[in-house]
Amino acid sequence: RLTSTKEILNNAEKGGYAVGAFNVYNLEGVEAVVSAAEAEQSPAILQIHPGALKQGGIPLVACCISAAEQASVPITVHFDHGTSKQDLVEALDLGFNSVMVDGSHLSFNENTAYTKFISLLAHSKEILVEAELGRLSGTEDDLTVEEYEAKLTDVKMAEKFIEETSIDALAVCIGNVHGKYPATGPNLKFDLLKELHALSLKKGVFLVLHGASGLSEELVKECINLGIRKFNVNTEVRKAYMDSLNTPQNDLVHVIASTKEAMKAVVAEKMHLFGSAGKA
Ligand code: G3H
Ligand code: 13P
Ligand code: ZN
Ligand code: NA
Repeated sequence: RLTSTKEILNNAEKGGYAVGAFNVYNLEGVEAVVSAAEAEQSPAILQIHPGALKQGGIPLVACCISAAEQASVPITVHFDHGTSKQDLVEALDLGFNSVMVDGSHLSFNENTAYTKFISLLAHSKEILVEAELGRLSGTEDDLTVEEYEAKLTDVKMAEKFIEETSIDALAVCIGNVHGKYPATGPNLKFDLLKELHALSLKKGVFLVLHGASGLSEELVKECINLGIRKFNVNTEVRKAYMDSLNTPQNDLVHVIASTKEAMKAVVAEKMHLFGSAGKA
């Protein structure tokens, strides 16, 4: 059933678990997430990145909303990584229940102004707002320690950012990265997350972790203990989809079924890992 992002995250906060936000690109992706959620009795977040929205357009959003409405478990629809004002303003009228304002490429003051502008508009439409402070590194980045640390979320700045923008959820940068982690493994700053957790409780915001593909069970559990309530997952699901295409099949219906099954298996595994399985 179509459920608000706020209710889904509030329940996660009360229950001490996290919910997966899975990037979807097409009908197969949507069905994979919803069928995994139903099989595992888990809430889930369907999220659409601007690049995916350019391809799928309004029908992709409508597909997510309709699948959520027909699901037997709580599902919401989220707009991921709104880096442009125009994209976000448009997204606010498409039926998303929550949006991510991504001003992480901007200076602190610019990010604050940008996020505040969208936050006011979104809240007038009862849309939940997630925003990022700090800057997520990419695997490809070759950074010095100083450069790396400069991109982490600063606790004092985060407090000011939350106060000025009235956001509902904060995407933290604690060493998490989009895509693959380096061969040396993820280097998550749990001392920093602990401080951000205290801040989030004080300010009443949810904590979000992007780049959840590639995190071990141990790291995920520690993140949840320290307040992460939404994990964004893209790469692992997308890889399962792409890999499944490597098995030659002549029947298109079988190709579609294989991609769905491959994605569903990864999504179901994440629901167990995040502790959302059985919480619908
Ligand atoms: O924020 C994530 C985008 O969906 C891109 O994710 O790192 O898997 O390419 P990616
Ligand atoms: P991964 O691709 O590392 O799973 O990150 C996904 C993400 O953060 C989408 O916003
Ligand atoms: Zn992300
Ligand atoms: Na990742």
